[in-house]
Amino acid sequence: MKVIVVKDYDAMSAKALEIMKAVVVEKPNAVLGLATGSTPLGLYANMIKDCKENGTSYKKVRTVNLDEYAGLDKNHNQSYAYFMRTNLFEGIDVDLANTNIEDGTAKDREKECERYSRLLDDMQQDIQLLGIGSNGHIAFNEPGTAFDSETHIVDLTESTIKDNSRLFEKIEDVPRQAFTMGLKNIMRAKKILVLANGAGKANAVYGMVKGRVTESVPASILQLHPDCTLVCDEAAASKIV
Ligand code: PGA
Repeated sequence: MKVIVVKDYDAMSAKALEIMKAVVVEKPNAVLGLATGSTPLGLYANMIKDCKENGTSYKKVRTVNLDEYAGLDKNHNQSYAYFMRTNLFEGIDVDLANTNIEDGTAKDREKECERYSRLLDDMQQDIQLLGIGSNGHIAFNEPGTAFDSETHIVDLTESTIKDNSRLFEKIEDVPRQAFTMGLKNIMRAKKILVLANGAGKANAVYGMVKGRVTESVPASILQLHPDCTLVCDEAAASKIV
């Protein structure tokens, strides 16, 4: 894994734009694997600014998102579909019809997982963006998830529910389940870009970069990817330098 340590969140977001933009400039119809969470917000703001000021175009790009809360409609203000529209898609020239995410309201959840995995088979990500959870999860693949997993439904762990509760009025409102791309779907990406910032991620970053490759630390599988880059700030890198 290539590791790039930068000073702070803004520098991380600037470097991330460089990497993301290079993919889109080289291949205007690239498939971008995108992520939610607080980590990529700076990157998304940079993509919007760069699209407006420099004309980098996403018109032909297709996107696939990692995960979605089960039970939330795409218009619910905490759904990841809503997050992507308001934090990125509405600010760039992407065609919303080319953006993909699991359907949180799907009645048959197993069937929805199967649909999404087969969609991913046809849309290999040219780049997959990832954040990392404080417990080493990637997307909603929690510790213990099989490395060969495809899209599946997960029961969220207490630590993830707690991490996410800041975004809901009360902790009881946080959905208990989510759809997530599996680790196999993520590892199929041609290139992976992981972003991490803040001291709260230092242990997870250590496990991802230097720990044993184990299903107990889902992000450790990234050590096996041929083209994975981690961009992190000094605080997140404190245990690997
Ligand atoms: P965060 O979440 O970007 O909000 O820290 C990352 C993750 O849980 O994957």
